[in-house]
Amino acid sequence: MLVTVRSFAKINLGLCIGPVRPDGYHELRTVYQTIGLHDILHVQVTRGTGIEIRCEDPRVPKDQANTCYRIVERAMAALKARGRVIIEIEKRLPVQGGLGGASGNAVASFLALERAVQKQLPGPEKLRLAAEVGSDLPLFLIGGTVLGVGHGEEVYPLPDLPPVSCVVAMPDVGVSTPKAFAEWDARLEAVELRSTWTAEGGRPYMSSAKLTGTNGSDRMVELGRVLSAWLSAQSNDKSGKGLSGVPAGGRGRAESPLLDLVRTGIENDFEQVVFPQYPELREVKSVLVRAGAFYASLSGSGSAVYGLFRNREAAEKAAGELRRSGIEARVTKTLTRRQYRKRIFD
Ligand code: C5P
Repeated sequence: MLVTVRSFAKINLGLCIGPVRPDGYHELRTVYQTIGLHDILHVQVTRGTGIEIRCEDPRVPKDQANTCYRIVERAMAALKARGRVIIEIEKRLPVQGGLGGASGNAVASFLALERAVQKQLPGPEKLRLAAEVGSDLPLFLIGGTVLGVGHGEEVYPLPDLPPVSCVVAMPDVGVSTPKAFAEWDARLEAVELRSTWTAEGGRPYMSSAKLTGTNGSDRMVELGRVLSAWLSAQSNDKSGKGLSGVPAGGRGRAESPLLDLVRTGIENDFEQVVFPQYPELREVKSVLVRAGAFYASLSGSGSAVYGLFRNREAAEKAAGELRRSGIEARVTKTLTRRQYRKRIFD
C-alpha cells in the first residue's frame, strides 16, 4: 500500500534560549505554530528489509543521517512490523530553513508508516519516540499552536490561534542549528564576562557558565509569565470570542489573541546571533515590517523569516516586494490543530 501525506512546516512565535543543561542541550521556551507550506511524502512497505529514502534534492541525506530513516527504524521495531520501507520525499520546504522541514518529514513518514502497516503506537509512545530523534519532532504530532519547553521536545497543545495570513521568506542560505546555539553561548559568555569585568574592577568572580545559567533562567521565567498571563487573559475573555479567538457571530477581531501575544513582546533569541552573521536576513525582516506585517521574525535558527499580516492581500503585496528584490517568498496561512491533522492525509 502506498500512503501519501503532507508534511507541514512550523514557525516559532518567540523563542527564548536558556542555560545549557547537563545533557548538553539548551533549555528552551517557544511557541510553535504549524503553517500551510508543506513537502509531500510517499511511503510504502514492500517485501524485503531495510529503509530506502528517495529524494531529488542532493542536500537531503539518504541514510541514517535522515530523521525519517531514524524514526522509521525505531517505529518498525516498536510496531513489530516487517518489510522494506521506501520513503519518497518531494522537497518544497527549504533545507536548514528553521521551518522544521526535516522534523516534519520524520513525523509524517511515521504517521504514513502506521497507516501502511495498519498498526498504531499509543500517543505517549509516539511522543517519546519522536523526542528521541530530535527536539523539533514532537510538535508535529500535536499541530496547531503548541508550547515547547524542555529542550523543545516537551510539547503542550495551546488554545489555537485563529488562522492568519503569513509570508515566509526563504533566503538562499542554510543555518546550522547546533552552530547557532554555539554562537549564542560564545556571545553570551563574552558579554557577561565583559560586564563582570567592568562591575568588579577587572576580575571575573564567577564562572561564565554560572552567569549564563542565571541570566538564561531569569529570561525564561519572564517568558513563562508573559505566556501564562496571555493564556489566562484568553480564558477569562468574556467577549464571546472563546479560545479560538473567533467571535461567535463573525470574524470581527479574530486576530486579537495573536495580536495580544505579539504585543507581549515575544522575540526570537536566535536573531541576535544569526542577523549579525547574515545581515540580509535582518533586511528581509525590515521589508516585511515596512510592508505592514503586524509581526515579523526569524523562524527557529533561520534562515526563513516570516511576517504575519491582517489579510491575504497585504501578504501577497509584501511577498511581491521580496520577490522583486530576488528573495523567494511564499504566502500561506497558519494552520489550526484541526486543519493540520485533517490535511496531513487529505
Ligand atoms: O534535537 P536536535 O537533533 O534537533 O538538536 C540538534 C543539536 O542542536 C543538538 O545536538 C544540540 O547541539 C543543539 N540543541 C541545543 N539545545 C536545544 C536543541 C538543540 O543545544 N534545545
